[in-house]
Amino acid sequence: MLDFNFANPTHILFGKGKIAEIKNKIPAKSRVLITYGGGSVKKNGTLDEVLASLSDHTVFEFSGIEPNPTYETLMKAVEMVHTNSIDFLLAVGGGSVIDGTKFIAAAAVFDGEPWDILVQHGAGVRKALPFGSVLTLPATGSEMNSGAVVTRKSLQAKLAFLSPFVFPVFSVLDPEKTYTLPPRQISNGVVDAFVHIVEQYLTYPVNGKVQDRFAEGLLLTLIEEGPKALETPQDYEVRSNLMWVATLALNGLIGAGVPQDWATHMIGHEITARYGLDHAQTLAVILPSVLTVCKEHKREKLLQYAERVWGIKEGDREQRMNAAIDKTRDFFEQMQVKTRLSDYGIGKDSIPLLLEQLQAHGMIALGEHQDITPDVSKKILEYSL
Ligand code: NZQ
Ligand code: ZN
Repeated sequence: MLDFNFANPTHILFGKGKIAEIKNKIPAKSRVLITYGGGSVKKNGTLDEVLASLSDHTVFEFSGIEPNPTYETLMKAVEMVHTNSIDFLLAVGGGSVIDGTKFIAAAAVFDGEPWDILVQHGAGVRKALPFGSVLTLPATGSEMNSGAVVTRKSLQAKLAFLSPFVFPVFSVLDPEKTYTLPPRQISNGVVDAFVHIVEQYLTYPVNGKVQDRFAEGLLLTLIEEGPKALETPQDYEVRSNLMWVATLALNGLIGAGVPQDWATHMIGHEITARYGLDHAQTLAVILPSVLTVCKEHKREKLLQYAERVWGIKEGDREQRMNAAIDKTRDFFEQMQVKTRLSDYGIGKDSIPLLLEQLQAHGMIALGEHQDITPDVSKKILEYSL
């Protein structure tokens, strides 16, 4: 096992009716800015529950944080924080709202041009406003991690930052709040969480037995429960399991002490920035190609994945590895997420543009061995067509 430091300070409030407890989690004298997206939380009553819980607090609202939140929109919220002397933020929504709120929290007290937070991937962040979240879309793990991804529309750049200052103080996970998700977002969430787990698991062995078995357990749960969420959307047990899997998939636990490979995400971000695909759609396209192109480097873990996650025991090594990759693609398709660039109307002419963007953002040595150079990314993209 590799060495690691691990700390996760986020307090999780899990279950029905837990929004009512928010009032005890935010200091009474705080001036709170509630942030949300395009209105789903207004329609489904989540925002009303939050407001009821905070009836004795001073609250302000900032709406309109879009999927793949933009710097342009978030800077308006930063202005609102300054004008109203806000000292606590509360994100109500999916990963985009939570990520956006992390950026607002850091940017509001940042010395310098806030876009540098992204350019430096968080290295310059020294403090942030405290914030909590009410999660309505299990997918990104943002509710219990210190990462965020922000898009600058004018530059067509989608960049990530990490900082220990942007862990949420608390996050409410009420599975009932996910009942109103449209099927496309249920599917996106399952695929995103699946890929997060794979990127921390499917590298090379370091004898991280606990991490491996946790990861395999989470993957098996997604395979079992994901399709059920599409079939019976109001099933509390199914939603609870999916919600907790998505959080554990990216809260630092399974990735501590093992190598990681975020190539799929980094290539995927460029596709979203350029062509606007949903985050999970890009992952469903790129992951099977990464596994195929990097098969030899991932051989041992790929064989373990084949056997323990998909029960594949027949055939020679090559056949078992290929069967595991096929099963992965089939699972994404079963979840109604298409797995080829051409399914989204994107052709060969996209490849030079995407490679140019990867290089512009310094994504020239990806993967657990840092050997996914632009030439290898090119192969991955060609295989994804
Ligand atoms: O904007 P509203 O009206 O709220 O609608 C949203 C949005 O249109 C809707 N939605 C959310 N909860 C709902 C709901 N609709 C009905 N009922 C509900 N309960 O769903 C749509 C998508 O929401 P969004 O927040 O964009 O989705 P997701 O949670 O998948 O977040 C994606 C973003 O997270 C980033 C992605 O890059 C992308 O920008 N990621 C963040 C990570 C992190 N912080 O660690 C890691 C991930 O890999 C990912 O990169
Ligand atoms: Zn993701």
